[in-house]
Amino acid sequence: MLYHTTDHAKIPRLGLGTWKLEGETCASSVAKAIEIGYRHIDTAAVYENEEAVGKGIRDSGIDRSEIFVTTKVWMDRIKKEEVVGALSESLDKLQMDQVDMALLHWPVGDMPIEDQVSQLATCKTSGKAKLIGVSNYNQDQLLQALTSCSERLSNIQCEYHPLLDQDPILKTARGFDMLFTSYSPLGRGDRGTVLDNPAVKRVAEYHGKTPTQVVLRWHLQQANVAAIPKATSEEHLRENFDIFGWDLSAADMKTLYGLMRPDGRMVNPDWSPKWDTGVEAA
Ligand SMILES: NC(=O)c1ccc[n+]([C@@H]2O[C@H](COP(=O)([O-])OP(=O)(O)OC[C@H]3O[C@@H](n4cnc5c(N)ncnc54)[C@H](OP(=O)(O)O)[C@@H]3O)[C@@H](O)[C@H]2O)c1
Repeated sequence: MLYHTTDHAKIPRLGLGTWKLEGETCASSVAKAIEIGYRHIDTAAVYENEEAVGKGIRDSGIDRSEIFVTTKVWMDRIKKEEVVGALSESLDKLQMDQVDMALLHWPVGDMPIEDQVSQLATCKTSGKAKLIGVSNYNQDQLLQALTSCSERLSNIQCEYHPLLDQDPILKTARGFDMLFTSYSPLGRGDRGTVLDNPAVKRVAEYHGKTPTQVVLRWHLQQANVAAIPKATSEEHLRENFDIFGWDLSAADMKTLYGLMRPDGRMVNPDWSPKWDTGVEAA
């Protein structure tokens, strides 16, 4: 495993995403992932699977203290200034006293960033979250958050994969020694996008690896970057974990960086901020 060490925490840079995993399938994928060796699980209130994620962690038999758990507070609760209450509800569902990371899931457009992150700071000072951060912020919003929050922000979570240039926000994250977590790191597994890309396939064939492994390795060979691929089956979970002990060359990395394109962004709901790159910014 590779780790990012920040703010007295050692964060595994490969985690399991759980969006769209539900019920017993979710619990068993989480437990299986932990058996394979995953020690970082990503969930969110809006995924409606926190009970199942908590169950999977308990079923694994591995001590809670060894698993890095992230959850996120949805926008409606941020707007109503209920972030701490919302996080308490997540903790009840997870059956935990504290999460390792609490994130604001999206910025709320009509509310000052300062007011959004001040609620988050209370999650940390109250002990409900060990670390705090934000998700889906653009560079300007992240800088405002970093400079106005009374507690340190340790993490930004954003879409990132070889089709999407995230250089501006990555630079900011690194400048503040934040962890940058890539969501949809496999381009959501959508056909005709990242995993089917001929250049990705060529690099994979050369190394005797799969396209998924090459893409995940590309994430982890970037400073401060973690990836949280979602996977359901044991086969996918194992394949995605088998990315250590070998390297992509500088030329391979360059090949994958060369795939970035203006329309590479895949997650772009109506409430998105003005992105630094991709779709809206293009
Ligand atoms: N902060 C945010 O706003 C935000 C937004 C989106 C996502 N996220 C987080 O990021 C996580 C990952 O993103 P994502 O779920 O959008 O997409 P992703 O991880 O890029 O892709 C998931 C898809 O890839 C498939 N897959 C996984 N391993 C594979 C393999 N070895 N071979 C072939 N296909 C494979 C999965 O299929 P199976 O399930 O069948 O294995 C699933 O359909 C989410 O689950 C969530 O935790 C956060």
